[in-house]
Amino acid sequence: MAERTVWWRTGWRVAPVAALALAVLASGSCTAPPRAATSPRPIAERSTDATRVVRARRGAVAAAAPEASRAGAEVLAAGGNAFDAVVAAVFAMSVTRPDETGIGGGGFVLWHHAADGTQGALDGREVAPSAAHRDMYLDAAGQPTAESLDGPRAAGVPGLVALLARVHQGRGRLPWARLLQPAIRLAEEGFVVGPTLAKELEGRREVLARYPESAALFLPGGRPWQVGEWLRQPNLAATLRALAEGGPEAFYTGPIAEELSRACRAAGGLITPEDLAGYRVVEREPLRAEYRGSRVISFPPPSSGGALLIQMLNVMSGWDLQAWGWGSPRHLHALAETMRRAYADRSEHMGDPDHVPVPVEWLTSRERAEAIRSSIDLARATPSDRVKPGAPPAAPESPHTAHISVMDVEGNAVGLTHTINTGVGSGFVAGATGVLLNNQMDDFAAAPGAQNAFGLVQGEKNSIAPHKRPLSSMTPTLVLDEGGRVYLVLGSPGGSHIITAVLQVLSNVVDYGMDLDLATSVPRIHHQWWMEPPEPDRIEADPDLDPEAIRSLIGLGHVVRTEGLEVVGEVQGIQRLGDGEMLAVSDPRSEGQPAGY
Ligand code: DON
Repeated sequence: MAERTVWWRTGWRVAPVAALALAVLASGSCTAPPRAATSPRPIAERSTDATRVVRARRGAVAAAAPEASRAGAEVLAAGGNAFDAVVAAVFAMSVTRPDETGIGGGGFVLWHHAADGTQGALDGREVAPSAAHRDMYLDAAGQPTAESLDGPRAAGVPGLVALLARVHQGRGRLPWARLLQPAIRLAEEGFVVGPTLAKELEGRREVLARYPESAALFLPGGRPWQVGEWLRQPNLAATLRALAEGGPEAFYTGPIAEELSRACRAAGGLITPEDLAGYRVVEREPLRAEYRGSRVISFPPPSSGGALLIQMLNVMSGWDLQAWGWGSPRHLHALAETMRRAYADRSEHMGDPDHVPVPVEWLTSRERAEAIRSSIDLARATPSDRVKPGAPPAAPESPHTAHISVMDVEGNAVGLTHTINTGVGSGFVAGATGVLLNNQMDDFAAAPGAQNAFGLVQGEKNSIAPHKRPLSSMTPTLVLDEGGRVYLVLGSPGGSHIITAVLQVLSNVVDYGMDLDLATSVPRIHHQWWMEPPEPDRIEADPDLDPEAIRSLIGLGHVVRTEGLEVVGEVQGIQRLGDGEMLAVSDPRSEGQPAGY
């Protein structure tokens, strides 16, 4: 069996965040947010890079690539709205961050339209090709192979271009072709290779070297691009130009679709021209919940993100988190125990709702939250082998990522999480299209109970079937005040870490009155019931988590790891402050820089 990549990115990388959190022990009763934080929080102590926070009055974009934020802000300044800006930003990012995303991938959008106060969820997730089948990633001994991660067989049918077109249609103000201009320029003229891209190319060197177009693009002279070098992508530029002129259909039918499919199948992949022509974005009903006076709106299945986020918030709503104090052992322990149980439910009950029944109402119900809360011993960790997924009522109910947050002066808000899955996706560039394909098929269960690249244990409901969408953790989320105005747009990459990152940043703002800068900067933890060995039942924590708190968690029976880990998500968010100013924040763990107008 070929060795499987375990991490969505190779190695640990987190910008040093100054010791900062201990002063944030807010007190007082829980009222509707946003509230002012009650403790002194000198900005100089927490921001290691001033470029990762921007204050703006007319609109803001937070993305994990400066070129993407700038592309979005340019569009806002040119008279576009949040829907235009997010499209321009995502296209730009799909050029400059091929380690994380690209038009060979997919994503989810959650939007709020200020004029009529409506929200919607658009699902542009990849689908399994029609020739996909349940056991396609098992070897003769029934063991998972690396084919779900490496090479063209790992790719689902890409949805990102269709998704962006749907976001724009009827909502955007500027012409579609205008929104592709920054991306075309970046692909044609080039951009400076950043540290994460360089690291990922090095990490996936062996896979990239297998495919001539991948090697020609990403391993010039046999060596991966290095930080500071200038990367041009002329084939991708030509593809983007065709999309600007021909619209999204030019990706799904005609010469680009034919070349993508030809190259993919010639190298052993499954995507046919019919698969591309048949791709559809699905409009879904966002999940809605109330949390301490705020309305939380998040993404439904086939993401597990929204349902788990709401389940965990429901559990937390029964505790006086403020009285416990931010970062206290009790706070961290209760979070970890909540996460452990939520991910157990995920493993058993979630998948593509168009193929399997997903008990969302039960997962997000007060009853389920109460059952989880009452199963938590606040004085002792419950080992994961004693935590099982819950059982919903018998009658079934009906049946390497980037996040970009945008807000505009009109009050529109968009959160869009997009991905080609793990670092550099499948490593396969589809012929002359210049399109790097995703390896999203790894988000399916290769076999029930098998772990994916994020260590997530997945069940029968997430098994592979033609045209099915793999279960995701992407969690674009909006938080609205009592007046129905969006005051927080949040999202993150990080696979399984996405949901817990969004949860903690949201709670830091709502429960502890932190501003988004601080809420994003302070250390986070993660638990997901089971992770990959060794120490599969563990809390992962940012390395700057208070050592005293870590010692207390160990004393409560937890295994805590802070070294050699992936980052605990990389949140890109925007907060609307009381006076209408927008605070756009890129997680200090990311390379992001927001832009405002
Ligand atoms: O949909 C998911 O949950 C994963 N495919 C997301 C991958 C991810 O976040 C990697 N990030 N860079």
